Order: sequence, then structure tokens, then C-alpha cells
Amino acid sequence: MNLKVIEPHINKNHVLNKIIILSSIDSTNKYLMDNNFASGTIAAAAVQTAGRGKQGAHWQSGSGGLWFSFVINRKIINPYMFVILSSVALVETFAMYGLKPEIKWPNDILLGRLKISGILIENDAYNSKIVTGIGVNINNKAPQNAVSLKQAVHKKINMEEFFIRLVKKLDIYLRQTAGLKKKLIGKWVMNLTDVTGRDVSVIRNKKRVIGKVKKVYKDGSVSIVDEKGNVIRIKGEVFFLA
Ligand code: BTN
Repeated sequence: MNLKVIEPHINKNHVLNKIIILSSIDSTNKYLMDNNFASGTIAAAAVQTAGRGKQGAHWQSGSGGLWFSFVINRKIINPYMFVILSSVALVETFAMYGLKPEIKWPNDILLGRLKISGILIENDAYNSKIVTGIGVNINNKAPQNAVSLKQAVHKKINMEEFFIRLVKKLDIYLRQTAGLKKKLIGKWVMNLTDVTGRDVSVIRNKKRVIGKVKKVYKDGSVSIVDEKGNVIRIKGEVFFLA
């Protein structure tokens, strides 16, 4: 990715106000978690050698994909908000390419049933810091069960252009006041796939609980009916069983 093309679009007065472009790094999330960068710093890498996915999974991050993270240094009441705003920004950016992906709760962006993008937030509540990592299959060879933007639109994508469009959208949502957040959550819910009734497994008090999704709430949490019929509300990660 060409820094010279991107840098003029990074506005010092916006929330995302600084960019670091690396040719190779283990993980852009790790890089921002381990170092103390100013709030609003974006780190993007052409290649990640140990890209992090959900649940400690490896995230394939070969050349041609968009792999980046940004850090916000403040106390975060609802870290999940970063997943919501990133999902909406991604869906709207894909729409600029004529695509209508779905947000699969909690943080997958799917085209058909194939994953085009993933989001991973890492939160250091003690130091009031949150890192949001976004991976988008752009021109790279997409792994199994995934699809690249290039495959979806049948032409090579200008990655800088995609990135600039996405950062602009992220920035708009990061600047939103409480009132506008409602609108954002509305957009998120609108693009969400219906997961009610789906079989899921969650970790609760260090124990695995199997149940069915009852409802997805606007704060990003979900209620589940467990095998004994108890209703539990979960804010963290949920695994779909089928
Ligand atoms: C998922 O499993 O769906 C989340 C994938 C998140 C991948 C991105 S790529 C940029 C950032 N750095 C990482 O190591 N992971 C995230």
C-alpha cells in the first residue's frame, strides 16, 4: 500500500489522524496493543505473519489484502460499539462497489455465505485503550469459506481507494454524538442476518453453555435459552454450532 497516496487523506483534526504503513508485521493488533501510540493512530501492513482472528484463530494475511488496526485511548463503556461502527462502515464501503454484504452477528461480514471481512477488538480496560483490527480480503487469494472483493466484482481493486473510503466512514462514526449513535445501531440491525433460533455455544463462568439464540439486542448483546430453559444474556463471543 502506498503511504503517499493515503496520507493526504488522513486529517489531523479527525479521530483517525495518523497512519503507519508497515511492509510486514506479526499482527497490526498486537503492534498497537504492545506499543503506546497516540489515540487515533492507524497501523496497516502489507503482510501479517501472525494475523489474529477470533478465539485465538490464525487469520491468513497474505499480500493483496487489507490488514489494519486503529487505537483509541480512552475509557470505553461499551467496547462492542467499535464492532458495530466498523461493521456498518464496512457494509457501506462494500456498497460503493455494488455489493450488499450481511453482518453476521457478532462480527463477520459475509457475502453470500462467504466471509469477506472480519473484525477483532482487543481491549485494555486498565490502560483505557481499545484496538480495533479489520481484515478485508481484497485482491488476495481468499481462504476456504471466504471470498475476496476482487472475486466478487470480477476485477482488481484499487486497495488505497478502498482503504481511504473505509477510513472516512469509520471516522464519521467515531465522531458521532450519542444521538447519532442510535441511527448507527439502527443501520447495524438492518444489515444483520437473522440469528434467532440458531444453536450456539457460549463460555459462561468458564463453562461451556449450549443454547438457542432468543434475541439480539441493540447494544450488541444477545439472549440465549440454555438446555435447561434458562434465559441468559451474553455480551461476549458466541459460537454458532451450525
Ligand atoms: C475474525 O476472526 O473474523 C477477525 C479477524 C481480524 C483480522 C484483522 S487483520 C488486521 C488486524 N490484525 C490482526 O492480527 N487481526 C486483525
